[in-house]
Amino acid sequence: MATKSGPRGQANKPAELVASPATRSCRIGEFSLALPAMQAGLAGYSDMAMRVVARRRDCPYAVTEALLDRVLLMGGRGREKGSVLCPEDHPVAGQLLGSEAEEMAAAARVLLDCGFDVIDLNFACPVRKVMGRCRGGYLLGDPAEAIEIMRRVRDAVPGALTMKLRRALDESAVAGENFQRIFEEAVELEFAAVAVHGRTVRQKYTGLADWTFLEQLKSRYPQATIFGSGDVFTAEDAMRMLVETGVDGVWIARGAIGNPWIFRDLAALMRGESLPPPPGILEQRQAILEHYAMATTLYGEDQASRHMRKMGIKYAKLHPQGAVVWRDFIAVRSQMDWQGVLDRHYHQDGPGIRPPSVPDAQDMFRGCGVVPEGCT
Ligand SMILES: Cc1cc2nc3c(=O)[nH]c(=O)nc-3n(C[C@H](O)[C@H](O)[C@H](O)COP(=O)(O)O)c2cc1C
Repeated sequence: MATKSGPRGQANKPAELVASPATRSCRIGEFSLALPAMQAGLAGYSDMAMRVVARRRDCPYAVTEALLDRVLLMGGRGREKGSVLCPEDHPVAGQLLGSEAEEMAAAARVLLDCGFDVIDLNFACPVRKVMGRCRGGYLLGDPAEAIEIMRRVRDAVPGALTMKLRRALDESAVAGENFQRIFEEAVELEFAAVAVHGRTVRQKYTGLADWTFLEQLKSRYPQATIFGSGDVFTAEDAMRMLVETGVDGVWIARGAIGNPWIFRDLAALMRGESLPPPPGILEQRQAILEHYAMATTLYGEDQASRHMRKMGIKYAKLHPQGAVVWRDFIAVRSQMDWQGVLDRHYHQDGPGIRPPSVPDAQDMFRGCGVVPEGCT
């Protein structure tokens, strides 16, 4: 992957002409965010446990993973997953995935009844199975249906409504026009915010996210609240996105997995301070324990131990003996194994290390049971 400061230099507006992020406020409807950043939707990761661990480290706002409307309407497993909230987990958006306007509107009402503050529509997911069922990113290529969904959900949701898009279905001119129609409808319907991932749906995760697109979009729609997404792996990346593109907030996704301190770090940079040192071993242990305890509440002991493997290997990246810790987390099968890893590697304090600024794409998914196809 190309380095980010060189080839990335896409923003054609000099940084000094963009209002300083520190002086811009970031709002989602009635909610004023203390930091212009949020915990992104991440299928298989961004559950209540991950969100709360992030919030305790300065994350002001979060969204669930994409929840299938039909599952919510049938009161199925997805509903449980999505509806588990706790008092600390607000404001929070519930993200909907679906293809049919009436069902999406009904599912939005279910999420509101569950206690979600904001409803978010996913028109971004590039997974083949999702696209094949006319959901997610497919809708970027079917603006008539997308707009019908937006209008019906708007009628059903009295409060804040937001949306996740990619920058287009593909590179064609018509795909660009379709994005424009959908985005303009969101402005017209007074969506509280739109998050835009700077890759096309067809691109999936190849190449770089196009931050120039984000910058141009924000210039064209200065009144709209836009969250930028794509290739934000460190707090410095988040700061650079704010400065270079002028977006209102940063949607922090892969960069937050196993590194909830990315929010604390960004908060320090926003205050004009230098980057805090990486969390020490005992600080890491504390976050891992919090995460594990909440995952156990959500899933029960057995499932939590398995689920936490994929989180553990991400936390391991901040440990000075990362490779060994990674291997030990992968082998975890039970609560006892889990405790064993903590006792062996996290019992004594010491300095942590910074997570990599560009994650290895393969490593991102290895051992976590989630294949790249499963990402949105
Ligand atoms: C494992 C994985 C799961 C994802 N699940 C969702 C999801 O449920 N909803 C969503 O809006 N985006 C989802 N995304 C997309 C991310 O939120 C984000 O837009 C994308 O990864 C680009 O940001 P990044 O390069 O900073 O990671 C997912 C991405 C990954 C890697």
